Amino acid sequence: MSAAKPIRAVLVTGGAGFIGGNLVRHLRRERPQWTIVNLDKLTYAGNLESLADLRADPKHVFVRGDIANAELVEQLLRAHAIDAVLNLAAESHVDRSILGPGIFVETNVGGTQALLEAARQAGVARFVQISTDEVYGSLGAEGRFSETSPIQPSSPYSASKAASDLIALSYHHTYGLDVVVTRCSNNYGPYQFPEKLIPLMIANAMEGKRLPVYGDGMQVRDWIHVEDHCAALLAALEKGAAGGVYNIGSDNEWPNLAIVRAILKELGKDASLIEHVKDRLGHDRRYAIDARKAHETLGWAPRIPFAQGLASTVAWYGANRPWWERVRSGEYRAYYEKNYGARG
Ligand code: NAD
Ligand code: TYD
Repeated sequence: MSAAKPIRAVLVTGGAGFIGGNLVRHLRRERPQWTIVNLDKLTYAGNLESLADLRADPKHVFVRGDIANAELVEQLLRAHAIDAVLNLAAESHVDRSILGPGIFVETNVGGTQALLEAARQAGVARFVQISTDEVYGSLGAEGRFSETSPIQPSSPYSASKAASDLIALSYHHTYGLDVVVTRCSNNYGPYQFPEKLIPLMIANAMEGKRLPVYGDGMQVRDWIHVEDHCAALLAALEKGAAGGVYNIGSDNEWPNLAIVRAILKELGKDASLIEHVKDRLGHDRRYAIDARKAHETLGWAPRIPFAQGLASTVAWYGANRPWWERVRSGEYRAYYEKNYGARG
């Protein structure tokens, strides 16, 4: 991104979700002079309660809306003189994509293309597309994904993310839009919706419910704390090369079953809560990320050791039971209308 024009305002999409909310807070701390416009549709995964501490912040502007609404997005880009867009808005859960892929294509592919087009029309200086390591598909026992690994997504979720990632790059190659793509591994940390492995297992264990482990539980994921991911996104925004792709990961591979056991140990609960259930359809066996390019060219490195990050995450879910009990029970919609009004 051109050093001549300093950033004053950014649009974060999906900022009421897990990573987006943590990113908004990270940017408020690290770049307090920036205005952050936060555009989120508030699907089941979006939660303004996760941003309660930012309600009175004059430099955080929340707008409830859809990234596919080109008119709204262009108006926001112009009205707030947005310098850069960080696109995190997405349908994000693999299991939901298996049950109903349509909305994944609609939001992740159609929505991202509409957002890119609005950014191009408004002359935005940089567009960061938050992609995933899942675009590379699955690994065997050896090797890691590099930025030049083939794109071979397996699930409707990862296929929709691969499409949006490639459309973003096409806007760079075709129209010269300044696009950076980041491909991060599995995140964990505070405010993650309790449908993903780590928060689901923590919440179930706390409530004494069974912990459903898919298949043999020996599938491997490469876990990174959300704060480390947010720091990488800021580095990619400020230091990434136009048209560049950056893998983000923490060199932290774990089989699912070992994660579940570590959570139970942290909570002092018994392994008898574990229940092996039917495997996920088309389940990717292993992800592992080679993030050397981000280390070498963005000057970024993860900081949070897994044992510390997992312990603090378990503690966070312990201290914030009303948050996850509400989102889990579906009561959030009513809570939102009561506290924030019908339109946000
Ligand atoms: P999340 O499901 O917690 O949050 C997604 C947010 O997007 C929600 O607040 C939702 O309301 C919003 N949203 C959905 N559709 C929208 C639309 N049409 N317009 C505006 N907002 C909309 O997801 P997350 O885990 O925070 O993931 C954020 C991004 O990071 C996604 O793009 C995801 O693919 C990517 N990613 C996630 C991980 C991970 O481990 N969670 C890893 C790598 C990349
Ligand atoms: P998830 O958190 O859904 O992330 P992703 O599928 O994007 O990697 O799942 C992480 C791993 O945990 C994945 O291998 C599927 C597995 N898993 C279970 O075994 N049980 C569960 O209840 C969930 C949600 C996931």
